[in-house]
Amino acid sequence: MSAERRRPLIAANWKMNLLKADAAEYCRDLRRGLAAPPEVDARVVIFPSFPLIPVVARELVDSEVEVGGQDLHPEERGAHTGDVSAPQLADAGCAWVLCGHSERRQNHGESDEWVGLKVAAAARHRQLTPLICVGETGLERKEGRTLEVLERQLLAALAGGPGPFALAYEPVWAIGTGETATPEIAQEAHRYLRQRMVEELGEVAAAVAPILYGGSVTPDNAAGLIAQPDIDGFLVGGASLDPQKFLAIIRCSG
Ligand code: PGA
Repeated sequence: MSAERRRPLIAANWKMNLLKADAAEYCRDLRRGLAAPPEVDARVVIFPSFPLIPVVARELVDSEVEVGGQDLHPEERGAHTGDVSAPQLADAGCAWVLCGHSERRQNHGESDEWVGLKVAAAARHRQLTPLICVGETGLERKEGRTLEVLERQLLAALAGGPGPFALAYEPVWAIGTGETATPEIAQEAHRYLRQRMVEELGEVAAAVAPILYGGSVTPDNAAGLIAQPDIDGFLVGGASLDPQKFLAIIRCSG
């Protein structure tokens, strides 16, 4: 299936940035920008840090923009200080959740199996769609292990039978570095992921799952990346903190 038949999905990963007032102003700017012609045909999601979710959900109410959590715990409740559960995210207005972002894998020692449990927890909850992040480090790429790493992370994430999901290919060497993957490098990884998804899940389920690219996406490099047949959208970190830059990325995608 070609990229034309999957609606672009453009997501903002705010990480640990912004305060309530900034978040509210950002959402108003975003709504204004999206309401201005020409009409945008893209699905847009914001991933704020947990304390900002209520503000963002309130400011975006009755808009097409969706909200997601940056992480979740596999269990529904219990003694897990500092964690949040799928029901709590859904209750706060989230429709999405990031699973396996490389900053969680690296800074919090999250294993492939643990990411798989999170994906399964989101899937169990139904109202939450997991956006599963995979990607190789610079060293793994240098050693020629990129596809092996992507396969391992993908299979572990899908092990729990995920239901509807989206995938983000985020090469770790491109995150926050200003060193974006070229459209050709990104396309090669996306094509591989699509092919493995077809083998694992069948044509139909694989065809509807969008594969986003993430890693130093900007308004300047987005058009070249989205033109690739297997790149269906973006997970944007740094550039998503400026609503005008994020809007420019959305506009060249949808
Ligand atoms: P970046 O982050 O756009 O700042 O590289 C992307 C991400 O980590 O999701």
